[in-house]
Amino acid sequence: MAKNLLAFLAVVIFLFSFREARKVLFPKPSYFPKPEYNFKNNPLDSNAIKLGRYLFFDPVLSKDSTISCASCHSPFNAFAHTDHSLSHGINDTIGRRNAPTLFNLAWQNLFMWDGAINHLDFQALAPLSSPAEMGESLNHVLQKINKQTFYEKAFKAAFDSNEISGERFLKALSQFQLTLISANSKYDRVRLEKEQFTEQEKRGYLLFSQNCVSCHIEPLFSSYEFESNFLPLNAFLNDNGRVEVTLNEKDSMKFKVPSLRNLSFSFPYMHDGRFTKLNEVLNHYTDSTVQAQFLKSINKSPIYLSGDEKVDLIAFLLTLNDKEFVFNPKHRFPKELLTKTKE
Ligand code: HEC
Ligand code: HEC
Repeated sequence: MAKNLLAFLAVVIFLFSFREARKVLFPKPSYFPKPEYNFKNNPLDSNAIKLGRYLFFDPVLSKDSTISCASCHSPFNAFAHTDHSLSHGINDTIGRRNAPTLFNLAWQNLFMWDGAINHLDFQALAPLSSPAEMGESLNHVLQKINKQTFYEKAFKAAFDSNEISGERFLKALSQFQLTLISANSKYDRVRLEKEQFTEQEKRGYLLFSQNCVSCHIEPLFSSYEFESNFLPLNAFLNDNGRVEVTLNEKDSMKFKVPSLRNLSFSFPYMHDGRFTKLNEVLNHYTDSTVQAQFLKSINKSPIYLSGDEKVDLIAFLLTLNDKEFVFNPKHRFPKELLTKTKE
């Protein structure tokens, strides 16, 4: 009798330790704020992260199986879409906005350039069903992957049951995206006193602190709030930003402040990808009409920079490039997807 009980306990402990071994602690850098994402409802699990990565790179998520999330969010571009000012979806349809970078998402509450989505777990529904992006429906994707033994196994490994539900699908996608943390740029290593800025980078940092940090707050380099940096309206796209969500006139032409990490990988810049180079961005901020608008607005100061100062400021911005993040093998196309047979 006692022997049976011991054997039973051994099995329970064995199974439990298996589950424990899959637990992934969210790797928050010491000087980052507290994350906004509530991990209690979706605790990180190594198998669920894997599943999310498969889904992120799998074109089965689109109507004609040609477009994956990664088609517009490429790991080598800090998960933005380089070369495309506006995103491209199925059948060569062109979207209205530039695909943003994806990293440090756990610190954000509102998603999209205008904050139309208020939870990461629901975000994927937007591209999935948008006719200009993947043109699919969640139900139909679930039907498709339900027939694939590859996903049957992957869902079972992640959630310890056979059920392939929309909730699990979305949670797994979030899990993978939550692990996309960019925190190993030269700036980060300087913060950790492992490296030092050059004299030029120090001058650039000072200029950044005087002119940019009010919106591009350290260490995430964004407040993740909605602001206007007085870009003139693109008449063709007629995109007025945040006001389209809040219907409050004061939000007209406000867009989510993007992070300035990984700028060398994520061009073109701004919600419509109108600039390809950083000096074009700085020339925008120092344009006299833009300066006049900054001057007119409450709590905002115009930005004045000489040619030399622009060079120094760019030198600082380049210290925010995180090559380890961009070239991390864990963020690439998972080879296991190639073993998936078409069913
Ligand atoms: C056709 C290109 C395209 C595809 C495919 C696509 N996205 Fe996007 N993604 C975009 C664009 C464009 C935006 C910005 C949309 C907006 O602001 O209205 C965006 C925004 C996002 C955001 C919000 C980021 C932020 O900073 O607010 C997340 C997260 C995201 N996409 C994840 C995904 C996932 C997951 C998939 C696959 C299910 C996916 N995307 C598929 C183009 C795409
Ligand atoms: C008043 C707030 C504010 C200030 C101050 C500000 N920015 Fe911005 N910045 C924004 C907003 C908002 C956007 C996005 C605008 C859009 O796409 O319509 C942006 C976009 C950018 C982008 C494009 C990033 C991308 O991924 O598309 C860069 C680069 C940038 N800012 C650099 C700077 C620099 C450098 C300074 C200081 C000289 C600065 N910003 C000052 C609010 C601000």
